[in-house]
Amino acid sequence: MALSKLRPVGSPVALPKVGTGNSVAPWAEQYDSVFVNSGTAALSLAVKLSVNRRRASSKSEVILPAYGCPDLIAAVVAQDARPVLVDLEEARPWMDLEAVKNAITHHTVAIVAVGFLGIPERLYALKHIADAQGIALIEDSAQVFPPSSSGNGLADYIVLSFGRGKPINMMGGGALLVRKDLAEQSAGVLAAIPEVEVSAGAFWRLKRWVFNLLLTRPLYGAMERIPFLGIGQTVFHPLAVIERQSPVEGLLDAGMEEFANRKNNGLIYSEALQKLTSKGWVNLAPECFGETALEGLFPQRPVLLRYPLLAPSGMSRNTAVLELNRMGIGASTFYGEALPAISGVEEFVDVAVSAFPRACDFAQHLLTLPTHSDVRIRDIDSVASALSERQ
Ligand SMILES: Cc1ncc(COP(=O)(O)O)c(C=O)c1O
Repeated sequence: MALSKLRPVGSPVALPKVGTGNSVAPWAEQYDSVFVNSGTAALSLAVKLSVNRRRASSKSEVILPAYGCPDLIAAVVAQDARPVLVDLEEARPWMDLEAVKNAITHHTVAIVAVGFLGIPERLYALKHIADAQGIALIEDSAQVFPPSSSGNGLADYIVLSFGRGKPINMMGGGALLVRKDLAEQSAGVLAAIPEVEVSAGAFWRLKRWVFNLLLTRPLYGAMERIPFLGIGQTVFHPLAVIERQSPVEGLLDAGMEEFANRKNNGLIYSEALQKLTSKGWVNLAPECFGETALEGLFPQRPVLLRYPLLAPSGMSRNTAVLELNRMGIGASTFYGEALPAISGVEEFVDVAVSAFPRACDFAQHLLTLPTHSDVRIRDIDSVASALSERQ
């Protein structure tokens, strides 16, 4: 059993770039940015703006995928709206488009298109459905950078997260991007949000140093063994506050620059794991990128937060996760369950998890591998030989 461990996800926090002039965000032409305390807060604000646009009198409904982060539920219920879950397409991290259409009622105010580990949702198809019903399209791009709507304005609102394990790690925070044609009608809601200051003082710099140190193999391995830290567990947390919070000066610029120069380990995995497909594994990234390209969506930089695979069976997935972790590779089952089965979510979802068989299947077969900048070619080679030898 390895004592040190290659963490499953997470880039170091960059050092703010001060005095070098601000770079222009890729969405700046189409969207206004509102920086807030978290991605969940940004999503919740997008839901609030969608509710206001429909001037809904009874409980509003928001469409979400049945496999995803429990923060999606927290963001919706914080606005007293009802999450309506939709099953996935077979062996894909995407919502079943027919099920999305069938889930729409007079109370629906928005569809949330959730990007998955660097793979965007099919925004053209979802926009088509949203427009036909006069409801909002929210692109939750917490896991995809830059958001796919950046240059084309497809989504009405975009959500970004700058938390640990996200494309740009700023030790927390998020942003709501509002398409410019919606700025006027959103202004009142956004102006009413209280604002807090974050500065890169001595405490922030110390926190950054400790944070980055804990990402290293020996310290991550040690930290993971401390049970009360609950590292890697998926739990539901209600959304407590929504605040405006401008990022530390120069930090987003530094993060974007680091992201643009980040080594693309996903491409190396795709090649190394190619042969697994003949043994019943699904290599999600190349397949999904191929399908989104057919739809006209080309990720500007298809950098994956983690490398996702679907194992041939739940049992082979579980054994592979155990074996890779024993070797010191932070392989993960990611959320582990479909949303209704995550503890704390059930009180907000009135449909049994068995109503979402493809989301359950996805949760049982998914294996994710680390892709961050500390992953070396020899790690990828040992993952590839461990997975192919097992079959
Ligand atoms: C898809 C998605 N949306 C929203 C969030 C919430 O972001 P934050 O952790 O910044 O609140 C997450 C967090 O993991 C996420 O994965």
